[in-house]
Amino acid sequence: MKHTDVKQIFAQPDEFCGKQITVCGWVRTARDSKSVAFIELNDGTSFKNLQLVFDKEKVNENDIRTVSVVGAAIKAKGEVVKSEKNGCELNVNEITLLGECPGDYPLQKKRHTLEFLRTIPHLRVRTRYFEALFAVRDQLSHAIHGYFHRNGYKYVHAPIITGSDCEGAGEMFRVTTQPWDAKAKTEDEYYASDFFGKKAGLTVSAQLEGEMAAMGLGRIYTFGPTFRAEHSNTTRHAAEFWQIEPEVCFADIDDIIEIAEDFIKSIISDVLKNCPDEIDFFNTWVAPGVKDRLTDVLKHNFGRIDYTEAIEILKKSGKEFKYPVEWGCDLQTEHERYLTDEYFKKPVFVVNYPADIKAFYMKQNPDGKTVAATDLLVPGVGEIIGCSEREADLEKLKAAMLKRNMPLEAYTQYLDTRKFGSVPHSGFGLGFERAIMYITGIANIRDTLLFPRTVENL
Ligand code: 4AD
Ligand code: MG
Repeated sequence: MKHTDVKQIFAQPDEFCGKQITVCGWVRTARDSKSVAFIELNDGTSFKNLQLVFDKEKVNENDIRTVSVVGAAIKAKGEVVKSEKNGCELNVNEITLLGECPGDYPLQKKRHTLEFLRTIPHLRVRTRYFEALFAVRDQLSHAIHGYFHRNGYKYVHAPIITGSDCEGAGEMFRVTTQPWDAKAKTEDEYYASDFFGKKAGLTVSAQLEGEMAAMGLGRIYTFGPTFRAEHSNTTRHAAEFWQIEPEVCFADIDDIIEIAEDFIKSIISDVLKNCPDEIDFFNTWVAPGVKDRLTDVLKHNFGRIDYTEAIEILKKSGKEFKYPVEWGCDLQTEHERYLTDEYFKKPVFVVNYPADIKAFYMKQNPDGKTVAATDLLVPGVGEIIGCSEREADLEKLKAAMLKRNMPLEAYTQYLDTRKFGSVPHSGFGLGFERAIMYITGIANIRDTLLFPRTVENL
């Protein structure tokens, strides 16, 4: 269907003024007066709606009435004219109804609650909130690829079906073709007759495959979906989320921290530059002050603190935490939020966590108690990045795995990276939706995904 994108018209109003064009889209609002009628049209290409103006002496009133229905899909032909309020608008002389929209269309009101919109994920993309979200999500994706491409990283695609649990937290979804009532005497026997002849699941992280790729390609990143069967019903956990995982050879923990900060700042500044209208929208309607906060973050260094010091700060805070704070405990969201929102008031890297609460692959520090790992915590969200230098010593790595009762034979290929030409290397995983929450101020991860998957919600 030959037509012009609304975005193009607003980008070059002088080019289009005085010209006859055709536009297509959905009716967002319609209003009427004695001699003229107006429709706000959105075609998904522009955050700004195009105003259609109908002179009732020129266009049949019945035709106008047929298309003046919120949610209807229409095609309009007319002349682009300058307008003080909107930059430009369309004086319509021909109108066609493409798809009618009956009265039970759920998006009749101007504003709806996010809770209500979560019940209609297939329609909520037609609201300004989700238009803004998906524009930012798209821009951020390009910014991420751009950053790594400019800096010489190879984009690799790790498998989604895998046999190894990278994080060792037992949160893998199983992948199987076995009938539900398959009989077996042992677990091994059960999986032996399954599709892969062994137990398989959806990846929780592309890291292990990423490390193997980096060991030949030097610097790589993955950007794909990851899955966790966590039963945490919180505002920041999804069962299916996207992760960005770079892996860098010849980089220690300090190098990777520098990279992570540069990367986060780079994608923030990209979004500020390329999505000004959407960021203004979030600043006005969703999280007042978010724009200044983002601009400000670019001007300062992120904080950096040892885990041990962080525990001291939390203990001295005088706060009544639900989860008590002791050296050795994992930081809960309430602890993370105190550090970022109240103490540092900016993003902060917490470094050198106790080995016992972290994954097997992290580099063991000389103190024998901690690992060269860091989480990046940010105001309003908490952890957005999990990061570490990897243990490059084969014997130390094996010892850490045995301590966690991991079957070494399931990781022979991974262990080969430490056997054949092992090198110091580091990497991190950024939760994409958590990054979006931080950048837009959106408070619930369910409002950052097209079709969110959470416990008991598919
Ligand atoms: O801290 P995590 O578990 O680290 C890893 O998976 C490492 N293998 C990454 C690496 O070094 N390559 O997860 C990384 C990030 C978290 O910081 C968080 O932002 C996000 O992934 N994340 C989740 N996001 C949404 N829902 C969940 N259930 C998430 N679990 C982790
Ligand atoms: Mg983590």
